[in-house]
Amino acid sequence: MVIASACEADAPATTVGFAEVAPVLRSHCVGCHQPGGLSPLSLVEYEDVRAWAPAIAAAVRARTMPPIPAVADGSCRGFRNAQWLSEEEIETLVGWAEAGAPPSAGVHDVGALPPTPHLPSDALTVAMPSRYVPAPTQDPADEYRCFAIDPGIAAPSVLRATEYIPGDPSIVHHAALYAVDPSLDLGPFTNAEAIAIMEADDPAPGWSCFGGVGALRPRSQLSGWVGGSPVVALPADSGMTLFPGELWVLQIHYRVGPETATAGDRTQLRVALADDAAQRITAVFQDPLTFASEAGVPIADAKLDAGLADATWSWELPAEVLWAELEAQEGASVDRLHLVGVGPHMHTLGTALELRVLSPSGASSCGLEIENWDYDWQDAYFYEEPIVIDSRDTRLQVTCHYDTSERTSPVFPGHDAGREMCGVMFYVSANDRPEH
Ligand code: HEC
Repeated sequence: MVIASACEADAPATTVGFAEVAPVLRSHCVGCHQPGGLSPLSLVEYEDVRAWAPAIAAAVRARTMPPIPAVADGSCRGFRNAQWLSEEEIETLVGWAEAGAPPSAGVHDVGALPPTPHLPSDALTVAMPSRYVPAPTQDPADEYRCFAIDPGIAAPSVLRATEYIPGDPSIVHHAALYAVDPSLDLGPFTNAEAIAIMEADDPAPGWSCFGGVGALRPRSQLSGWVGGSPVVALPADSGMTLFPGELWVLQIHYRVGPETATAGDRTQLRVALADDAAQRITAVFQDPLTFASEAGVPIADAKLDAGLADATWSWELPAEVLWAELEAQEGASVDRLHLVGVGPHMHTLGTALELRVLSPSGASSCGLEIENWDYDWQDAYFYEEPIVIDSRDTRLQVTCHYDTSERTSPVFPGHDAGREMCGVMFYVSANDRPEH
């Protein structure tokens, strides 16, 4: 008897119950998977989760859910907004599903959901100029539409946080906001003229803008929303630099299909502004292959051959390029460059992407690793600790991987659908935050 009870006490808990699964769902899944959430599939109640257990196991094992996939297992930096599951968390979900998704006594759901954050009602509110009705399509389709908004910024200031309020949440899949200098001369036309030309192209509000914002050149991305919390906030004491007189361009990714019944969308934004921040951030987009190709500069090998499971593009950029851009925006010289975040960008053939930071001494460190690129789920990743760059000769090296096996002719760089990009939005600042 004594031996038997000792065995019982020592036996590991081989069966994972819903009690072990609930905290994982709560911290990584229900932000999107709750009633009224971004996904119609609720993972709040035990009964719902049980019904989906095999699909959950498959999705977390393949790391397609949660859907925003920067590797954050400790091998490459740490990210403030990482959604990376640990191996133990995956084990818990998969083990539970394989055990037949057993309940736990007294645990009926994932627990009280945290209240949805909102910005105060005195925050600046801006909206699309008018309602836009995406055309119904035969198959579920993605449509990218851009809208110019005049936010009426009268003095230099910073954007601290953005709340995205979709007009029709059933069709707004994700959105991004850019700052645009209307007078910037692009050669053939200014940014303001580019907007007028694109808007005149068809009678509906805004303009079509797959993969970017169309023919204009934004100064900086200000924020991006990919579902989950409606509020996209920067760390305390930091903000995106804003200039008076600039326009904002809101890019919305709509998902529409034959079943879609919509009266149209007029998305609103609520924006928290401040006069200044200890850490002013500017986003600088770099994609040397696309830039060269669109400027008509011939570059050797700037094509991906068709029929390859792993075709790659790679480029290197001296930190000086970002440094100069930041100094121009700050109107002052900058001693050290703080890389506070990165937003990778490829189109639909993209599979993986890597950023490395190569110092002049020859040291190389990881800046970002994406193993499982998903065009539908693009986000910017903000570092827990910024990467401090002391030398203008430090090089940023980006390698993009693509699967061209379905293509029968080479793929060229460019913004248009059917072409590919290998771009990174670099979020840079002259300053660290005070607590660092
Ligand atoms: C940022 C929002 C978001 C988060 C976080 C998220 N999901 Fe999802 N999930 C979605 C959306 C939206 C869909 C619908 C399909 C799509 O658009 O990709 C989906 C689809 C699914 C599906 C349906 C089958 C599939 O794989 O497409 C499963 C299962 C799933 N998610 C499980 C999870 C689990 C488990 C977690 C947490 C570990 C999670 N999701 C976290 C948004 C999210």
